[in-house]
Amino acid sequence: MDFPASRLVIAAILAMEWGMRTPVLTALSSQAPMDEINVCGWVRTKRDAKAFSFLELNDGSCLRGIQVVVDTGTPGSEALPEMTTGASVEVKGRLVASQGKEQAWEIQATWVGLLGTAGETYPLQKKGHSLEFLREIAHLRPRSNLFGAVFRVRSRMAYAVHTFFQERGFFNIHTPMITASDCEGAGEMFRVTTLPPGSAAKPETDFFGKPAFLTVSGQLEAETMACALGKVYTFGPTFRAENSNTSRHAAEFWMIEPEQAFCDLSGNMDLAEAQLKHQVTDALTHCAEDLAFFSKYVDRELLERLRFVAERPFERISYTEAVKLLEASGHSFEYPVKYGLNLQSEHERWLTEKHFQCPVIVYNYPKEIKPFYMRQNDDGTTVAAMDVLVPGIGEIIGGSQREERPERLSAAMAHHGLSEADYWWYADLRKFGTVPHAGYGMGFERLLMFVTGVGNIRDVIPFARTPGHAEF
Ligand code: 4AD
Ligand code: MG
Repeated sequence: MDFPASRLVIAAILAMEWGMRTPVLTALSSQAPMDEINVCGWVRTKRDAKAFSFLELNDGSCLRGIQVVVDTGTPGSEALPEMTTGASVEVKGRLVASQGKEQAWEIQATWVGLLGTAGETYPLQKKGHSLEFLREIAHLRPRSNLFGAVFRVRSRMAYAVHTFFQERGFFNIHTPMITASDCEGAGEMFRVTTLPPGSAAKPETDFFGKPAFLTVSGQLEAETMACALGKVYTFGPTFRAENSNTSRHAAEFWMIEPEQAFCDLSGNMDLAEAQLKHQVTDALTHCAEDLAFFSKYVDRELLERLRFVAERPFERISYTEAVKLLEASGHSFEYPVKYGLNLQSEHERWLTEKHFQCPVIVYNYPKEIKPFYMRQNDDGTTVAAMDVLVPGIGEIIGGSQREERPERLSAAMAHHGLSEADYWWYADLRKFGTVPHAGYGMGFERLLMFVTGVGNIRDVIPFARTPGHAEF
């Protein structure tokens, strides 16, 4: 957390202007005392001594808070009894070297102001609440150390998505959230309608003149843009009405979907591996303090694992090989392993955690278990699909090379029971200047689980949407 001196000077000057506050982060990483500093935050703890009180303030800008020393008689100190845990407070004073061992700097207050009380009913009084309890107070949990750290990392990881693609010449495109097509063909879509509940009216009379849904993926639209701009990515919310109450599925989640023209499966795997490494390296570099917190309180092996992933090449094996390894493993799985069946989470995790002990890309899956748009391989039975599996999560990325040959695409659509008339624009891409192209979807929340070590998807989304839960 080194800041150039100029930024500190700017922060100090700004702090002197009316209404400008110094973030705790800046104060903590100060390299010199400051005569005038103005900090706002929420009280984490207060300790009273005879002639003074200590306030531990946190403003969310970083994990640590700043200690404020309020001498008896300091203007505003008559409100000290109400500056209890959770109360919001403004402080003016001097940033001075701390006498304590815990911190380099502290604020010697010259004025304190109570902005809002919290009182005894403030739910975050004590440390050590269960994650389940904290989910019930999702509006307050970002003020806890754990969730503050999670959401700062979430912000940084979103930024790193953009830097990764922008620096490589990808254009950020925005794909619609309301769509009439089911990209994944799994029928797990939320209906969007203005018809009254229970209405027997025909879809033609509905708002969009046909059945419409919240999108499960921006891929199909991303393909059209890639077949014009070359390299694109979309990064936005996607929705799935799958009623699976697991720790890795949400009904609303964010997906990063790059799509590249003139690219095959191997180029796609290279991009996926490079992006995952970029995200991890960026977190290690820019979220060091928060990651150290996770590795202490959430997952002891986190830092070691992340460094390992950032440095080591991923394994790549075909689905056929993966099935052979699983069959020969001698491990008793809950779900059967057999060529032609989907790999379940337990199988994916055995491959990445037990067998390879590193990220694995499984490619070339049987066409029967993959969506219509994947490119058929010459063997006639598999498609150019790929899934990236990581320890602790299983599947974090799913993608493929796309079927660019018009006749093959028609056949695949017929095979999957899709009407070509509904996807005429998608088929058009194959008629007019078709090109080999490929892309993937990375689940943003799965990425966050991987980077933070947090084990439940509900805890990396500010307000998670899962079956039965739409509070907040
Ligand atoms: O493997 P999926 O279903 O792939 C697609 O949607 C493709 N159309 C992507 C593409 O090629 N452009 O989903 C991609 C990723 C998964 O690997 C997983 O990380 C995440 O999205 N994902 C979910 N994350 C949270 N909750 C859910 N219900 C998820 N379903 C998928
Ligand atoms: Mg998938």
